[in-house]
Amino acid sequence: MRHLMSPLDFTTEELDRLFDLANDIEKHPAKYAHACDGKILATCFYEPSTRTRLSFESAMTRLGGRVIGFSDAASSSASKGESVSDTIRIISCYADICAMRHFKEGAPMVAAEKSGIPVINAGDGGHQHPTQTLTDLLTIRTMKGRLSGFTVGLCGDLKFGRTVHSLINALVRYEDIHFIFISPEELRVPDYITDMLRTRGIPFEEVIRLEEVMPRLDLLYMTRVQKERFFNEEDYVRLKDFYILDRNKMKLAKEDMLVLHPLPRVNEISVEVDNDPRAAYFKQAQYGVYVRMALILTLLEIKG
Ligand code: CP
Repeated sequence: MRHLMSPLDFTTEELDRLFDLANDIEKHPAKYAHACDGKILATCFYEPSTRTRLSFESAMTRLGGRVIGFSDAASSSASKGESVSDTIRIISCYADICAMRHFKEGAPMVAAEKSGIPVINAGDGGHQHPTQTLTDLLTIRTMKGRLSGFTVGLCGDLKFGRTVHSLINALVRYEDIHFIFISPEELRVPDYITDMLRTRGIPFEEVIRLEEVMPRLDLLYMTRVQKERFFNEEDYVRLKDFYILDRNKMKLAKEDMLVLHPLPRVNEISVEVDNDPRAAYFKQAQYGVYVRMALILTLLEIKG
């Protein structure tokens, strides 16, 4: 039995197979419409979500399976003090696979250790968000035709943004990737990541001004300042609008640069950018369904 805790749980060859399957699902949805007949997905979300939870639910429904779960810790027995270890033992009696989001880093891993069914980390605190990374990689591979040879700008809250941490970990396995981290001083990417990049000899730069590096980027990954992870409201208010990607900044970018964002956005991408052909973030959310369909099939060992 396999779980998904980190994008690194799959080799790059396994990821290629997963993305091939996701692309085939996109082209031939009818072929997969009954692949999960009789199967049940549990979505156990201890933290709010729109995309991840609903795209998992959409994915299982499109595969012919059914969904149970909760979208709020307060409506589960966690509010009475039940541990994730006990909860997953119970969920294992009711479902065939579980997607879990938790505010505590490592909670899905603790659940996986006691689980009788595959557990998918659907985001744990500020740590990892592997299915968002699968979504990001599928989007890049499908729209650019490759996963190597990019200058990648990551902009915004690089300290608390778990999608950023997961994506960097995943991209370092591909050739000729150059990272440019664009953040205010207070929201710099954590040291353990820059240490890892130095150890592996992967080039990176850290800058504050987006305009300065915009012309060099092949991919721009914008992120929201993570209000829920700040200890201090004053710091959040000071930093929340530090970056706003607008039409003028887009004029500085390459004609084929892609703008990605895991969403939700607050103000960091102006709505005037939405109609720019380089804005890929809504398409990215659509790819999230295909990749989660492929992931469910893979972890349940169901052939399409
Ligand atoms: N991208 C993402 O994780 O969105 P949600 O928080 O809405 O699931």
